Amino acid sequence: MISLSKLNQPLKGETFVPGDKSISHRSVMFTALAEGTSEITGFLEGADCLSTISCFQKLGIQIEKSMRPTNGVPTITVHGKGLHGLSKPEGILYTGNSGTTTRLLTGVLAAQKFSCDITGDASIETRPMDRIIKPLTLMGGDVKSVNNNGKCPLFIEGKNLRGISYHSPVSSAQVKSCILLAGLYANSDTVVYEPSLSRDHTEIMLRSLGADIHTEGGRMGEVAAVLHPGMPLHGKKINVPGDISSAAYFIAAAILVPGSEVLIHNVGINPTRAGILSALHQMGADIELINQNTEMEPKADLLVRHSTLHGNNNGIFEIRGRMIPTLIDELPILAVLCATASCTTIISDAAELKVKESNRIATVCENLSKMGVDITPTDDGMIIHGGKPLHGAEIKTYGDHRLAMSMAVAALIADGETTIDDEKCVNISYPSFFQDLKRLSK
Ligand code: S3P
Repeated sequence: MISLSKLNQPLKGETFVPGDKSISHRSVMFTALAEGTSEITGFLEGADCLSTISCFQKLGIQIEKSMRPTNGVPTITVHGKGLHGLSKPEGILYTGNSGTTTRLLTGVLAAQKFSCDITGDASIETRPMDRIIKPLTLMGGDVKSVNNNGKCPLFIEGKNLRGISYHSPVSSAQVKSCILLAGLYANSDTVVYEPSLSRDHTEIMLRSLGADIHTEGGRMGEVAAVLHPGMPLHGKKINVPGDISSAAYFIAAAILVPGSEVLIHNVGINPTRAGILSALHQMGADIELINQNTEMEPKADLLVRHSTLHGNNNGIFEIRGRMIPTLIDELPILAVLCATASCTTIISDAAELKVKESNRIATVCENLSKMGVDITPTDDGMIIHGGKPLHGAEIKTYGDHRLAMSMAVAALIADGETTIDDEKCVNISYPSFFQDLKRLSK
């Protein structure tokens, strides 16, 4: 348990945030399937991405960490064995808390020459896997939910796959990436349509490693990722930018605490991930993007100053539709920010929140209500009447890292003491979160 109290001085200074979680996972997975050796810097050494490393090690890939002798930068070296180089693991593949590892890896395993079992922790065993079982089955795959409930554990019997055109009912990068990875092994093109574009890190990285993949507009405003199989992947150096989802907590803290000014270096600003920046700009936040550049993925330094947030002229701010996939993981911290805004915020089209590391509609509303926020859960989001003062409360994280970090930021502006029951869950994506927050708060 950790106790936090209201911050009586501004946050000041500069910081880096750990590497992007989504890109870190992909960097290890895709270079394992590439030919030759790859060096990855900026890799997030959080529990989720370490699960990806350990699964690929079990699949016969040599992966090691070292410090670059010249500058002491930690480097992950992956000795890729090409698309057909994985070997049958001993025992079950364990993915911990990581949905990305579970779903993307299942796509790869569906096409191997061996069978294996995969599962994760108690949270993973509650999360829907039928969303990947269905398209993989259409590709000729044999993926079974062992308890027949559409969830993990999964038993996967590798098969020869065929390409499909799949209309995903949800905009999910994990579903899209799972199908595309299986598609690398298929006998014809694979096309994944989604209602609106989810994070496109898979498309960007696969293309840069040599895959023939592109994105195009589909019918009815859908977006399609089109993969033509047959091209080998080639290893390369990858530098992972800082995670905008982790930066979001310091962006929020700087906006909320009067007098704050924080510079966050080297943050990934891929437009499919940067919805939090556009939402906050619309609400009047003072966030400057400086030193913008692109190296596989776009990135920038973010200079954030204390700001008061507002809605549109009618006193309402809406977060919905195509915006949702671009800020899905930031909705808990956005809810904290909106609790202080001089408007009513309506978040909708976000039913996906119910199947994240916790049911984030329920867990965000429960915890912010305890802190005095006027917040109501809905079927696909929440309604927040901003402007009431926050007070300290006993926060229950349900093991959800993003909930823990969001509530820690809320505690900085809440009267009295806030306790967080299980602060260690931040290790999933940001092991040094509390140290970094403390450093900027001094
Ligand atoms: C992720 C995709 C998103 C996101 C998750 C990471 C990824 O999940 O919420 O934290 O790395 O592809 P969905 O694909 O389920 O929306």
